[in-house]
Amino acid sequence: MEIVVVGTGYVGLVTAVCLAEYGHKVTCVDIDENKINKLRDGISPIYEQDLEELMKKNSKRLRYTTDYMSAYKDAEVIFIGVGTPEKKDGSANLSYVYAVAKQIAESVDHSCVVVLKSTVPIGTNDKVLKILNDNKKTSIKINIVSNPEFLAQGTAVRDTLHASRIVIGVDNEDAEKVMREVYKEYDAPILVTDSRSAEMVKYASNDFLALKISYINEIANLCEIVGAKVEDVAKGMGYDSRIGDKFLNAGIGYGGSCFPKDTKALHWLANMNDYELKTVKAAIEVNEQQKLRLIKKSRKYYDNFEGLTVAILGLTFKPGTDDLREAASIINIPIILDDGANIKAFDPVGIENFKKTMKYGDVEGLDRISYFNNIDDTIKDTDICFIFTEWDEIKNYDISKFRKLMKRPILLDGRNCYSLSDAESYGVIYMGIGK
Ligand code: UDX
Repeated sequence: MEIVVVGTGYVGLVTAVCLAEYGHKVTCVDIDENKINKLRDGISPIYEQDLEELMKKNSKRLRYTTDYMSAYKDAEVIFIGVGTPEKKDGSANLSYVYAVAKQIAESVDHSCVVVLKSTVPIGTNDKVLKILNDNKKTSIKINIVSNPEFLAQGTAVRDTLHASRIVIGVDNEDAEKVMREVYKEYDAPILVTDSRSAEMVKYASNDFLALKISYINEIANLCEIVGAKVEDVAKGMGYDSRIGDKFLNAGIGYGGSCFPKDTKALHWLANMNDYELKTVKAAIEVNEQQKLRLIKKSRKYYDNFEGLTVAILGLTFKPGTDDLREAASIINIPIILDDGANIKAFDPVGIENFKKTMKYGDVEGLDRISYFNNIDDTIKDTDICFIFTEWDEIKNYDISKFRKLMKRPILLDGRNCYSLSDAESYGVIYMGIGK
């Protein structure tokens, strides 16, 4: 089929490349010329496992352009995969989605199906359909479909090629038929429902996972108080298939582009409808506190960090991505700098993005951070070390070296990379989460 995907971020680009892998001819549209030029050169603007190889493999079926008019010309299906960033009040900013809908309506001269892949608040599909109908030039039929994306960064290609489910929110059979054709080659259960339920599936799924993490984080905090081990507790809980063993890793809180944004957006939407989502509110509050957990623990050793050298292992919000959105590092590093410390930071892929994200003027003392591409040099002669991301390089690091290389081997591990008994047997002063 002739498919257009608008937006070449995580959702748009991965969707496009996977649709091409399943045999469709896909045109990727973006307003960012830089991105499009990179893509034409076979370079992915995002760091994502397997993506570039798949782009190369399907290059004959993939086209990249900023010229949306020509892209829409023969499209049977147009996916909208542009961002819906968080606004100051916690609600989702839909201006990009609406702008693309208007652009589509003004450009297409034939009937087609418009698919909303971006995560959008409940009711947005109806609004987009109105924009399409209000702005189309002729009496063509434009159908709208809600088709939320469930990919996680770092495993985005696998999550999309082998989707856990395909949710199609649609109110007419013709559009349903087209969507079944799009996903003909995919081996995943298909749920067809109305658009509002499809939109809700996405928020309800993400917020449930966020809630699960905040729940285990609170249990971890209580484990510390009463002398239990959260990892064993989670294992014991996970054997119950009603609970499941995934997303029960206690740590320094969830980050990324989805959970923080989607929890706040649903909470906001409920409030706007005079309903308080108490569970989601609790997940948000617990997460905000959890991100500061290690700093609070560090006060046991130092009143402040004035004149100390602090090692930071891991800058990204999780391993396998160079994304720093809502990462623990972004919240904690300014506090540590403000406290007067020098910082030595390690991350296998996130350093460049970190430098771009942290701007002089917004954060004081950035010149006191030095960056390293190996852990030995990062921790050497430091007074305390924080782990914010569980990269394999960190998990597989020889724990005895913290004792050998650090000035004072105090290790605060926000991702439970090591066992307490190992750390203690090598003379490392160690604190994880929930043990
Ligand atoms: C998430 C959802 O998993 C995905 O389905 C959705 O489409 C987008 O949002 P992503 O944000 O890429 O994906 O990452 P995910 O692996 O879910 O992790 C999110 C955050 O939760 C990370 O900061 C991670 O460290 C944290 N996390 C995850 C935990 O703290 N504990 C866990 O057990 C799992």
